[in-house]
Amino acid sequence: MMERPTLGRTGLKVSRIGLGAAQHGRSDIPDAHVEKVLNLALDLGINFIDTAPSYGRSEERIGRFLSRRKDEFTIATKCGCYGDLTEGEYCIDYSRKAILEGLEESRRRLKVELIDILQFHGLPPPELLEEAFEVLFEVKEKGLVRFVGISADGPKAAAFAGKPTGKLDAAEIARRWHVDTWQFTYNIISQEAAEELIPVLKEEGMGTIVKRPLSNVVWRFEGRPEGDFLGRPWERAREMPLEEIAGDMPLTEFALRFVLSHPGVDVALVGTIREEHLREDVGYAEKGPLSEEEVRRARDTFLGMFGT
Ligand SMILES: NC(=O)c1ccc[n+]([C@@H]2O[C@H](COP(=O)([O-])OP(=O)(O)OC[C@H]3O[C@@H](n4cnc5c(N)ncnc54)[C@H](OP(=O)(O)O)[C@@H]3O)[C@@H](O)[C@H]2O)c1
Repeated sequence: MMERPTLGRTGLKVSRIGLGAAQHGRSDIPDAHVEKVLNLALDLGINFIDTAPSYGRSEERIGRFLSRRKDEFTIATKCGCYGDLTEGEYCIDYSRKAILEGLEESRRRLKVELIDILQFHGLPPPELLEEAFEVLFEVKEKGLVRFVGISADGPKAAAFAGKPTGKLDAAEIARRWHVDTWQFTYNIISQEAAEELIPVLKEEGMGTIVKRPLSNVVWRFEGRPEGDFLGRPWERAREMPLEEIAGDMPLTEFALRFVLSHPGVDVALVGTIREEHLREDVGYAEKGPLSEEEVRRARDTFLGMFGT
């Protein structure tokens, strides 16, 4: 059975592995398959699902296929990014109107009265920061959502992912606006959050949710994927002695357990659409943390090569 730590100040007990439901919105994957994977996640003890209005049909499918099992999971969705990221067509809008209308749409698609966690899908642009936070806390006060959060990386991790944050520093924002949860990138290839974000989030009592914990398994690609989002991790995967770091363990297992070994991480969202991978990932999490020596190997290699 997977551990269920407390998700920071929300007090929610959540499984160490959460389901990242971005791929589950893809229209090229049949409904019946997505239904099976969503239900399997709950059957395996996963009780945390992360989605977004911009993940294609993800919210709608969760609403349709899990509506009878609502009591079994915490649902986190997002606002500020609309359209369809899975098709590469989206728009960013953090205006009051967009956040309020987006939330209504999410409630309708998910078939829930109350959203458990509403997160900013990135950092709002500086000129809309005040307004966007005002609306976020307002919907919580009005009881339309239980908790509020942000999904955003610190400057170094964001720049590495090809999404520079400009003047905005996630750690400063976390100190200023006391949201309940924070979602960020942390994995064996992009460990920046360990220095630039996790300590602040923990100090502030926020629940910590890791996205891309497997770095999209970029080491499986023969050639460099297009764009920096996958391309730069792929380059690092080539540079880093990943197999050596993992030792006798399969690299995917090592990578996932490495993330879960960080004492500042509550949940890691795995974004799989395959039943066998979901079972594997839960199995890895159930094995518990890596040894101190194993963690040190991965940390020291990263810091030695890309140290901050
Ligand atoms: N801006 C944001 O807010 C943001 C950005 C990125 C991600 N996220 C959240 O984080 C979630 C996860 O991120 P992600 O999907 O980008 O990254 P990820 O979980 O690091 O990687 C997902 C990839 O790993 C593969 N995989 C999973 N388990 C595996 C296993 N046991 N063996 C081999 N391959 C395995 C999956 O392939 P298969 O499908 O073939 O298993 C998939 O291609 C998303 O769904 C989303 O909820 C949020």
